[in-house]
Amino acid sequence: MATVVLKNVKKIYNGGVVAVHDFNLSIKDKEFIVFVGPSGCGKSTTLRMIAGLEDISEGTVEIDGVVVNDLQPKDRNVSMVFQNYALYPHLTVYENMAFPLRLLKHPKMSNDEIYQRVTEAAKILGITQYLTRKPKNLSGGQRQRVAIGRAMVRDSKVFCMDEPLSNLDAKLRNQMRAEIILLRKRIQTTFIYVTHDQTEAMTLGDRIVIMKDGFIMQVGTPVEVFDRPGNLFVAEFIGAPKMNTFLARLERKGGEYYVEAFGGKLPIKGEKAKELADKGIDSRTVLLGVRPEHMTFSDKPAEGLIPCEIQVNEMMGSELHLHVLTPEVPEGTFGSLSEEEAKNPAYAEDKEFLAGGRKKLIVRIPTVNLTEQQRAELIPGKEIYLGAEGKVMHFFTADAGKLKTNLLYGPGEEAEASMAS
Ligand SMILES: Nc1ncnc2c1ncn2[C@@H]1O[C@H](COP(=O)(O)OP(=O)(O)OP(=O)(O)O)[C@@H](O)[C@H]1O
Ligand SMILES: [Mg+2]
Repeated sequence: MATVVLKNVKKIYNGGVVAVHDFNLSIKDKEFIVFVGPSGCGKSTTLRMIAGLEDISEGTVEIDGVVVNDLQPKDRNVSMVFQNYALYPHLTVYENMAFPLRLLKHPKMSNDEIYQRVTEAAKILGITQYLTRKPKNLSGGQRQRVAIGRAMVRDSKVFCMDEPLSNLDAKLRNQMRAEIILLRKRIQTTFIYVTHDQTEAMTLGDRIVIMKDGFIMQVGTPVEVFDRPGNLFVAEFIGAPKMNTFLARLERKGGEYYVEAFGGKLPIKGEKAKELADKGIDSRTVLLGVRPEHMTFSDKPAEGLIPCEIQVNEMMGSELHLHVLTPEVPEGTFGSLSEEEAKNPAYAEDKEFLAGGRKKLIVRIPTVNLTEQQRAELIPGKEIYLGAEGKVMHFFTADAGKLKTNLLYGPGEEAEASMAS
């Protein structure tokens, strides 16, 4: 059993930098939790407070129900793997892995026991054949495995990893990511993993904690944060290329809804219309979000679709990425905004829209669905017609300086608790 509970944890560095604000999270036994967010959002600071490498300014960290704020790192039973996995160059792989065990004093570990543990970890990590080598004679991926092995031998309750793969090239990173998934199945412990890479977060985490400026934005399973992002930040951070957003008018007609944007009129039917109606959402201006892979396209004009011009076509092999421009919004009309709404400074953020300009969108199209002729024709300058089904639409508020909350799913409870301070 190793649960980790953070209650109202705050970190103020010397000099007054608040790196983490009121962090609240309950990590379950054997859960794989990922902290993800842009550089400087407080991921490492939070992890280091759990491991005991950084003082906790306020609040408590509990491991298995015991407050560990005042315990030394070595007494917390937490292992840590860093991005810069400094291995001892003069020691063999075996001795690098044995090193933390040789340091144990009370009680001292026997050589037999050390041998057992190191060889067992090496077997799991597939590095048995390298045990007698020095680190300089290993590849980057093999060295990373030794660093993980050094943390594994200790039998710790919580396994913390801070960007362990970011020094590796893209191919090796993919391979090690898969290995961490396998490793996790073999060593049954609680994992806390820090990364700024949303793909790593999505593929590794049972739950993902998305952070920004020292605040938790949302906590959820990969599917939850992808399908139901609590706010625009999460929506744009998870998924690549990032979600398209544009100001639009959500119109309600009885139980039916549609959105109007750039001359297009996209109906919202079924479950989504019901969700909107259940929440009592009336006609209003929204920031509409649609992921690039969820846009539908037609090469012929059709009722309600938005006519767009292709600017750039990127052939990725299995997919075609089209960067397109929407039509111009007639100057002075602010599209579908009322004059009052247009005064709201939030809309200034959507400058292309207000300037009467054109908005850039990205569309991802699986190439298997395209004919040879279509592939040849989807090139810069060509006009295509875009739409989206209601079920893939996300609706955010567009209030100035605010988080731009998802109208349907709002911030999660944790986010609200965290940001209420
Ligand atoms: N020792 C320190 N003294 C003062 N400020 C610090 C210290 N360490 C980190 N910070 C600040 O605290 C904030 C959070 O830093 P942290 O290292 O936790 O970010 P991070 O999310 O891990 O970022 P990255 O992805 O770049 O590793 C940053 O603004 C950083 O500048
Ligand atoms: Mg960091």
